[in-house]
Amino acid sequence: MRKPIVAGNWKMFKTKDEAVQFVEALKAITPSSDKVDTVICASPILLDAVTETAKNSDIHIGAQNMHFEKEGAFTGETSPVLLQDFGVKYVILGHSERREYFYESDEFIAKKVQAAFDHQLTPIVCVGETLDEKEAGETTQKVEGQVQAALKPLTEDQVKQTIIAYEPIWAIGTGKTATAADANEVCGAIRAKIASLYSTEVADAIRIQYGGSVKPDNMEELMSQEHIDGALVGGASLQAESFGKLLEAA
Ligand code: G3P
Repeated sequence: MRKPIVAGNWKMFKTKDEAVQFVEALKAITPSSDKVDTVICASPILLDAVTETAKNSDIHIGAQNMHFEKEGAFTGETSPVLLQDFGVKYVILGHSERREYFYESDEFIAKKVQAAFDHQLTPIVCVGETLDEKEAGETTQKVEGQVQAALKPLTEDQVKQTIIAYEPIWAIGTGKTATAADANEVCGAIRAKIASLYSTEVADAIRIQYGGSVKPDNMEELMSQEHIDGALVGGASLQAESFGKLLEAA
């Protein structure tokens, strides 16, 4: 039985006050971490405030990106060492917005995935196809390739701990959600690929989220699918009340 994991990706939203108020409000309604893992992924400049506010609660804090180097002349970047220092537990890697706007390659993402484990951070690795790729019937091939590349440097034990987020690019922020059955089929294909690369034991352990216009009204159906173990949520993670409903549904 895999424990559900629901992560909010705030992207480039929220001021410091808004972030602190959100975490305070969420603390009152977050389910116990025995039932669901709750993660909020904030901008690096908010991490200090949100980790402090979330202390002694069941809310874990994540970053939305990082560099793979420990330190160095990388203007504007955030290191895994700093994330660890700030009490961050998760890091989103390979989000489609990073791949598209910042030209992040599979190889670059794989280095970050390894660096996350080197610093006790759990990576949430995003994969997904464009609308053109979906229409050309290339979804499975695309996501399997992204998964294989991202997990390549890891040990089997690390693969088990990794979170995969299947986010069809055409569903992000568009209000178009993949049907629960379609999302489950792709998540099932990812699990089968992991079984073929590693073992059934590894494939059964790894948690796979769906992301792309997840809302309180479609969450329950998505979560009832065999291969969907949680959600990575953008828009609906910006209000504590709607995010709380997603946690409840999980
Ligand atoms: O990482 C979450 C994301 O890209 C989905 O965003 O706004 O469609 O839930 P949204």
